[in-house]
Amino acid sequence: MASSYVVLLLFMFIQVNSAQPEQPNYINLPSELSPAKEPSWWYSASGRFAFGFYKQDTGFSVGIWLLNGPDVTIVWTAHRDDPPVSSNAVLKLTKDGIILRTDQTKDKVIASSPNSAYNASMRDNGNFEVYNESHGIIWSSFDYPTDTLLGDQNLYAGSELFSNVSKKNSSRGQFRLKMQEDGNLVLYPRNSVDQSTEAFWGSGTNGGGQRHVYLNYTGELLVLDNKMSIIRIFLNMNSSANQSLIIYRAALDLDGVFRLYSHHFGSVYQTSILWAVPDGYICPNRFCGFNSYCTVHDNQSICRCLPGTDYVDPNKTSSGCEKNFIEQSCNGMNESAGLYNMTAMSIRGDNYPYLIVAMSEEDCRKSCLEDCNCDAVLYQAGFCSKLKYPLKDLMQDSGSSFTSYFKTGFQNITIRGDVVDFFKSKRPMIDFKKVIYLGLQSKQSQMNKQVKIILDRTMDKLF
Ligand SMILES: *[C@@H]1O[C@H](CO)[C@@H](O)[C@H](O)[C@H]1NC(C)=O
Ligand SMILES: *[C@@H]1O[C@H](CO)[C@@H](O)[C@H](O)[C@H]1NC(C)=O
Ligand SMILES: *[C@@H]1O[C@H](CO)[C@@H](O)[C@H](O)[C@H]1NC(C)=O
Ligand SMILES: *[C@@H]1O[C@H](CO)[C@@H](O)[C@H](O)[C@H]1NC(C)=O
Ligand SMILES: *[C@@H]1O[C@H](CO)[C@@H](O)[C@H](O)[C@H]1NC(C)=O
Ligand SMILES: *[C@@H]1O[C@H](CO)[C@@H](O)[C@H](O)[C@H]1NC(C)=O
Ligand SMILES: *[C@@H]1O[C@H](CO)[C@@H](O)[C@H](O)[C@H]1NC(C)=O
Ligand SMILES: *[C@@H]1O[C@H](CO)[C@@H](O)[C@H](O)[C@H]1NC(C)=O
Ligand SMILES: *[C@@H]1O[C@H](CO)[C@@H](O)[C@H](O)[C@H]1NC(C)=O
Ligand SMILES: *[C@@H]1O[C@H](CO)[C@@H](O)[C@H](O)[C@H]1NC(C)=O
Ligand SMILES: *[C@@H]1O[C@H](CO)[C@@H](O)[C@H](O)[C@H]1NC(C)=O
Ligand SMILES: *[C@@H]1O[C@H](CO)[C@@H](O)[C@H](O)[C@H]1NC(C)=O
Repeated sequence: MASSYVVLLLFMFIQVNSAQPEQPNYINLPSELSPAKEPSWWYSASGRFAFGFYKQDTGFSVGIWLLNGPDVTIVWTAHRDDPPVSSNAVLKLTKDGIILRTDQTKDKVIASSPNSAYNASMRDNGNFEVYNESHGIIWSSFDYPTDTLLGDQNLYAGSELFSNVSKKNSSRGQFRLKMQEDGNLVLYPRNSVDQSTEAFWGSGTNGGGQRHVYLNYTGELLVLDNKMSIIRIFLNMNSSANQSLIIYRAALDLDGVFRLYSHHFGSVYQTSILWAVPDGYICPNRFCGFNSYCTVHDNQSICRCLPGTDYVDPNKTSSGCEKNFIEQSCNGMNESAGLYNMTAMSIRGDNYPYLIVAMSEEDCRKSCLEDCNCDAVLYQAGFCSKLKYPLKDLMQDSGSSFTSYFKTGFQNITIRGDVVDFFKSKRPMIDFKKVIYLGLQSKQSQMNKQVKIILDRTMDKLF
């Protein structure tokens, strides 16, 4: 199966170069697809798109993909949050629509159209369409966008794109792009309410009623109102390139960035990024899980673990990190200090300390070692702020005036090589940007004496 897949892909790559616009490939009813035997998918006439079973994890999902050069980009997935199905699954295209039959008891409906479907087609624009007898479209995949818009596709008022979980998992991940009813197109973390305080980008096209996003088949990305008047052009294309050789694709990527790509099927296959929002934006809120910090590598936001922690799930680095050393039982404030060390790093974040005390930097470090509730300290201008895990929304920041230390186990710690190298190469510091802390600081300069504030210790609830 796997090898025939590769062969087919290579074959398609060659065939695509000589593709020309032509009649749609009609699929007659009834027809079926199966991962185990051919056919497993149906091609569009140009061979650039296919609809059918693709491999995901150890099973298969039903979707549509773009065969771009040696790569395959999934542009749509049916029931994307469901686990992949086994090789026994069968996709049936009948007059009742598209049904996925699995080992499980219940069939999954992909397209329902009781008694009215006549034939179907995988179109060259990437849309899978089911028609009735009078050639009316009764179902199209373009009406159910997942993380991608293709040329000639809309994102209507009230609907949203969700990023993938990972490169290998097309379930809904951490970000969403919503075309709000108020006309604004907004990027949010997935688990958030539709409020501007939660947003990390907005088009500012609100006011004046419902609007929708349209990606023109010539690559223009637009916001239109219900009368099809142009409200906003994100990208104006006037290239003289042969449009029939280009596929445009706008996708909400894993890192929360909405990018417009062009896939150029000339004599040499080429992919380019034409436009992206947020512009130069990196490390969106909540991109990384607890106890990990966000940093940028090859223009992509990535998550790395704090010193003394490892990924909860190494296959999903945004899932957060947990301590990689065994803690001693905690019977008092001054136990087993000798079992830990403090490692410095340049990180900032937004977390509440449970204690702020005036002391020297060295005492600050030591007091954390001796305090079994303490996981990290932040030191600035004579004050030591103690923090307990979990810590959230951390970001690398080499330009800060804070120094922070993280408690690490004394035994050999298993952290990835590149992170260890990073620690060696920089003298790290940290900044836990603190509203409360800065407020206290101004009071302190008046008192000019040791101040000790104990905040609520039920901090875990705050996160
Ligand atoms: C994909 O991600 C979802 C959500 O995190 C998870 O529940 C599911 O098990 C993952 N699927 C695979 C095949 O890894
Ligand atoms: C989503 O994941 C699939 C693989 O599951 C991948 O082919 C596709 O490119 C991803 N989409 C984006 C926008 O990253
Ligand atoms: C598919 O159905 C349409 C009418 O809906 C018809 O025009 C077309 O010829 C049909 N194609 C095939 C191959 O039957
Ligand atoms: C076919 O579908 C179109 C569009 O949905 C609809 O307008 C038309 O009435 C349908 N024709 C029949 C015979 O059902
Ligand atoms: C899409 O592009 C074509 C060709 O440039 C143009 O004629 C058409 O008006 C565009 N559509 C919209 C809604 O701008
Ligand atoms: C669009 O056209 C103008 C004038 O013809 C030209 O100066 C400009 O470079 C073009 N822009 C693009 C993106 O092709
Ligand atoms: C665009 O490319 C297609 C496929 O190679 C070709 O048939 C067509 O003539 C080209 N059109 C122009 C205007 O160059
Ligand atoms: C990162 O983005 C910049 C500007 O968009 C680009 O010049 C550079 O080549 C990119 N770097 C990588 C590694 O992709
Ligand atoms: C990570 O993925 C590999 C290969 O896909 C798998 O063998 C391993 O069990 C996964 N690890 C975890 C912690 O899920
Ligand atoms: C904590 O223990 C160290 C030696 O391990 C000792 O020097 C220090 O005085 C102790 N502090 C308290 C508050 O008991
Ligand atoms: C403890 O950490 C400091 C730097 O934070 C380092 O200089 C020192 O060697 C470490 N101690 C041990 C025993 O690893
Ligand atoms: C720690 O690592 C060093 C070198 O990697 C090794 O020589 C030493 O035996 C290790 N110690 C323990 C307790 O594992």
